[in-house]
Amino acid sequence: MSLKEINPTELGGNVIDEISNKWMLLAAGNESKFNFMTVSWGMMGEIWFEPAITAYVRESRYTKEFIDSNELFSMISLKDGYKKALQIAGSKSGRDIDKVKETGLTPLFIDGVPSFEEAAYTIVCKKMYADFMPQENFIDKQAFKKAYPEGNLHTMYIGKILKVYLNK
Ligand SMILES: Cc1cc2nc3c(=O)[nH]c(=O)nc-3n(C[C@H](O)[C@H](O)[C@H](O)COP(=O)(O)O)c2cc1C
Repeated sequence: MSLKEINPTELGGNVIDEISNKWMLLAAGNESKFNFMTVSWGMMGEIWFEPAITAYVRESRYTKEFIDSNELFSMISLKDGYKKALQIAGSKSGRDIDKVKETGLTPLFIDGVPSFEEAAYTIVCKKMYADFMPQENFIDKQAFKKAYPEGNLHTMYIGKILKVYLNK
């Protein structure tokens, strides 16, 4: 396996399809301690003159602790055929299980962020902005009602895209 760096604008595929339908992994931490989880809500584009990604992380997620305590995080798209791993990473918490073992994924570290040999590509992000999204800021009250019947609100993290690597 080798890595090929590409420009963020060279990323193929439709962003909405990549995140909402195919799902991605959001990961943070270092080689001695890291965690990852499945995400299907997210945005990619540009802000503050930088290519950027926005991820939305609920309060309860173990991964949130790793994002909060590290400068960098990664967004990873796995190759086809790993839906089961994505389901496990998206339904069990790293607090309760050994996610690497249970998903069968093979971790590797790129520029200090977690990724996997099974990745199609890895986006290395540097946190630029984080904001808790409180109920009173919702203009669309129905959206709030639908998304938060049990609370567990999101924090949004805007990350500057530092690098994009394809796994070859
Ligand atoms: C398809 C799918 C998409 C998900 N998207 C998100 C998301 O965008 N934000 C979020 O906070 N949780 C999302 N989750 C839930 C987390 O992945 C899940 O709660 C996970 O077990 C958290 O793991 P952790 O506690 O180890 O961080 C999603 C789950 C699935 C299956």
